[in-house]
Amino acid sequence: MRLAELGASVVVVGRDLGRLHEVQNQLSVLSDDQRHELVVADLANGSASGLTEKLDSPVDVVIHSAGVNTKSPLKFISSEKLDSVFGINTFAPMLLMQSLVKKKMINKGGSVVFVSSIASDYATLSNGIYAASKGAIDSFVRIAALELASQGIRVNAVSPGLVDSRMQDAYLLEEAVAEFSKQIPLGRMGKVEDVAESVVFLASESAAWVTGINLVVDGGTTLR
Ligand SMILES: NC(=O)c1ccc[n+]([C@@H]2O[C@H](COP(=O)([O-])OP(=O)(O)OC[C@H]3O[C@@H](n4cnc5c(N)ncnc54)[C@H](OP(=O)(O)O)[C@@H]3O)[C@@H](O)[C@H]2O)c1
Repeated sequence: MRLAELGASVVVVGRDLGRLHEVQNQLSVLSDDQRHELVVADLANGSASGLTEKLDSPVDVVIHSAGVNTKSPLKFISSEKLDSVFGINTFAPMLLMQSLVKKKMINKGGSVVFVSSIASDYATLSNGIYAASKGAIDSFVRIAALELASQGIRVNAVSPGLVDSRMQDAYLLEEAVAEFSKQIPLGRMGKVEDVAESVVFLASESAAWVTGINLVVDGGTTLR
């Protein structure tokens, strides 16, 4: 939404056509033309690279935010859980990025932003699969930034702390969220807008000399 407000033409990707239409309605309030596109795609099972075929022309900005979580103590980790979480959080962004670069679908001077998580560095119980899937992306961001710098393409990550979203609703009890929020130095959990503003910064010309970083947006959670 913020990118559309700033004048971008946006291609929105998701699995659920109903939710995509909701996004389209919100976008049409912000901009008076039909320049935005909706793409229905499931990024599971290595299908992310196929997304590139659905783009009409190269893009200036890529934001990979799709992600899933699972809570699993070490003794309950299974290859199915690993496949499903790594499939979306790690393999999909890597394959999508590879495909976009191979097909020259990111313009020179473009910017890629991955949404990672403080979980990769900040240990919490039962979070091994999710944390590892995001840790792999943190490493990948630095390598991709190095490899693509000569093409003028910047690659960065944003690592949010606890943010009020469907993901938290699905994986954390209300009481746990309330308890955790109290411990956040800035006194509240994050809003989606807190993360969006950081993504927009990294995507924009304001960050023209910033590549390979992981911008932590967590209200100070990881200071402790
Ligand atoms: N919430 C937090 O506290 C928090 C903290 C740190 C990092 N993050 C990260 O922030 C990102 C956004 O998460 P959120 O909190 O906004 O959670 P969310 O509301 O559950 O959003 C997850 C998004 O991932 C998409 N997605 C999931 N599986 C997909 C698949 N197989 N193919 C295509 N899209 C798929 C969903 O699209 P559909 O519309 O198709 O379902 C949805 O848009 C994630 O990467 C998450 O790991 C969240």
